[in-house]
Amino acid sequence: MSRITVFPSKKITGEISVDGDKSITHRAIMHAGLATGTSSVTHFLNGNDCQATINCMRGMGVEIVEENEQLTITGHGLNGLKQPSKSLDCGRSGTTMRLLMGLLCGMDQKKFVLDGDTQLQKRPMERVAKPLRKFGATINTSNGTAPVEIIGTQLHGKEIKLDVPSAQVKSALIYAGLYAQGNTVITQFAPTRDHTERMLSAQGVSIVRDVYSVKVTPTQKLAPIEMVIPGDISSAAFPIAAAVISPQAELTIRDVGLNDSRTGLIDILVRMGAKIKIDVIDKQAIEPIGNLFIQDSALNAIELGGDMIVRAIDEIPLVALLATQANGKTVIRDAAELRVKETDRIQSISEELNKLGAQIEATPDGMIIQGPTPLKGTLVDSHGDHRIAMALFIAGCIADGQTTINHFECVTDSFPGFTDIMASIGALYE
Ligand code: S3P
Repeated sequence: MSRITVFPSKKITGEISVDGDKSITHRAIMHAGLATGTSSVTHFLNGNDCQATINCMRGMGVEIVEENEQLTITGHGLNGLKQPSKSLDCGRSGTTMRLLMGLLCGMDQKKFVLDGDTQLQKRPMERVAKPLRKFGATINTSNGTAPVEIIGTQLHGKEIKLDVPSAQVKSALIYAGLYAQGNTVITQFAPTRDHTERMLSAQGVSIVRDVYSVKVTPTQKLAPIEMVIPGDISSAAFPIAAAVISPQAELTIRDVGLNDSRTGLIDILVRMGAKIKIDVIDKQAIEPIGNLFIQDSALNAIELGGDMIVRAIDEIPLVALLATQANGKTVIRDAAELRVKETDRIQSISEELNKLGAQIEATPDGMIIQGPTPLKGTLVDSHGDHRIAMALFIAGCIADGQTTINHFECVTDSFPGFTDIMASIGALYE
C-alpha cells in the first residue's frame, strides 16, 4: 500500500490495544542475544525496524525463533556474538544502528560494518561514535554517517557528559560500559527514556541512577529475560489524538506502556484540556503498564519546551496537529532534535499540515501554530516517515473531504496494525 485515501471518520469509539513498544522490543532482542540462556519475549513489535534488529542479531549467530507473537531467543553470553560474514543491514532503524555501535565496540578484535537504507545513511552517527571513542573504541563513520565500521577493542570506563538529550546515545554508552574496565558514569541535561537501564537491572547488572545520571558497573553475565512487551505509547498516541479531536469520541486503550519517561504526550494533552483517565494496572513490572480512557475535548493552546519535549519527542508532530485544533497560539521550543529524525520532522509536518489548511510556522527549534483552523483534505506526502504518515492519517479523519497520503507504506516501520486498529474505532479509508 503506497497511497491511501482517508475520509472523515465516523464517531471514534471502542476498546483497543496497540502493537508492542518499539524501543523496548529492540532492547529485548539485543539484551536476550547477549544473555546466557534462553529468553522469551511476548507481544513484540513485528515491524520493519525491529525486524532489522532481529536480522542483525541473527547475522551474529543469535538463535531467534518467531512464533505467533513470541520470540524465543538463545544467547551465548556477553562475548558470544560472532563476527558477521557481511555488513549488518539496519534498514531504516536509527535505534538499531546506534545501539549496536555501543554494544559491538567492546567485542575484542571482531570487525563489524553497520549499514542501512538511504534514509538512515543521512542520519548523524558521530553523536554516538565520538563519546564511544573516549572509551577507547575504534569506530569509523563515513563522513559522520553510515556505513559505520567497528573494530572491537578493550574499552575503559569514563565519566561522560552528553550534549544531546538522546536515549540512543545514552544506551550505546551503557552497553559499552558493560564491557569496559572500570565504571562508567553518563550524565545528560534532560531525562531520556530509561528502558535500557530498567531491563539491564532486571538482568542482574548493577546500575545506579538518578534523574540525570547513570552509573554502570561492568559485568560478566546477563540473565535471560521473560518479558511481555507493553503496547507502544508512541503508537497509542495516534488513536488518542483521533479521539481527542473527534466529536463524541470515547476510546479505551488497554495494556499500554506508561513509563514516565515516555508519557509526555498525555501530560501535554491534559495541560491543553483533554479528558484522559489513566488507570495504572502494574507499577511493579519492569515497565509500568495500564489503561487509558479518552474522550473528545476542547483544547487550548500551550507553550512547550525543556524536559517535556524529551518525554514526548516522537509525538511532537502529532502535538502540531492537535494544536491546529486548539484555541490560540501554540509555541513549541527546544525541539531541534526533530530535525534529525527519520526526516526533518519540523519541516515535513509543518509543510504537509499547511497543505491541509493549518497555519504553522517552522522555527529553527520548533513550531508556532495558530489555532483553531479547519482542515480540508488534499494530496499530502509522508516523506517516507512513519510518524508523519500516521499524523496525516489522523488529520484526514477530521478534515473535510478526502485526504490522500503518498508513501504511506512506511507505517509498518513502527505500527503494522495501524490501519486495522483505526478502522476498528471508526476511521474510514481506502
Ligand atoms: C529511541 C529514542 C529516541 C526516539 C526513537 C527511539 C530509543 O531517539 O526518537 O524513536 O529507542 O532509544 P533519540 O534517543 O535519538 O532522541
